[in-house]
Amino acid sequence: MINHSSKTSLTGLKNKMKIKDKFILDACCGGRMFWFNKKHPNTIYIDNRTEEKGFCHQRPSFEVQPDIIMDFRKLKFPDKSFKLVVFDPPHIMRIGNTSWMAQKYGMLEKSWEKNLQKGFNECWRVLENHGILIFKWSESEISVKKVLSLFPIQPLFGHPTAKSGNTKWFCFMKIPETIQPTQKGNEN
Ligand SMILES: C[S@@+](CC[C@H](N)C(=O)[O-])C[C@H]1O[C@@H](n2cnc3c(N)ncnc32)[C@H](O)[C@@H]1O
Repeated sequence: MINHSSKTSLTGLKNKMKIKDKFILDACCGGRMFWFNKKHPNTIYIDNRTEEKGFCHQRPSFEVQPDIIMDFRKLKFPDKSFKLVVFDPPHIMRIGNTSWMAQKYGMLEKSWEKNLQKGFNECWRVLENHGILIFKWSESEISVKKVLSLFPIQPLFGHPTAKSGNTKWFCFMKIPETIQPTQKGNEN
């Protein structure tokens, strides 16, 4: 694991991780629970923390072991580095920080709107043209409508309502600006 807050240079990172083969970014991997292959060879897993097994007493086998410790608000990757980015940030605020939910998923901070905006914009920046951004959100406290309104781009498709459970998935595609419908308006 690489701690990017230390002085590791990007070239050093590239050499260590063969970043050219890493065209998928998980921007806040946590325990990688939604991954079928939790060590996918083409993926860089980042999070802003590490946690050893046992730190969460109710979930003793749970751990957070990113490849790189990094903040999704300040990604240390060049523009257009990835073909696919998955962004599954914390979504809960009103919960004690010692609860297992908070330990597993992290918590939203007071400045959560700014943080999510910065995170989304960074994920977008590091995405190649025609790359895909998958955003996951749970509507337990904050609505999909509210969270999507923070982002400058509209998803192509996803869950428009909360009728079928709380967890929502959205697919964005980085279509170059000239043909981005949210920016030009829906002219058809
Ligand atoms: C909902 S969990 C991710 C769960 C993960 N997708 C899974 O499959 O297990 C959100 C994660 O975001 C991380 N996180 C919160 N703020 C962050 C930040 N600024 N930069 C990077 N990761 C962050 C938390 O530590 C937490 O592990």
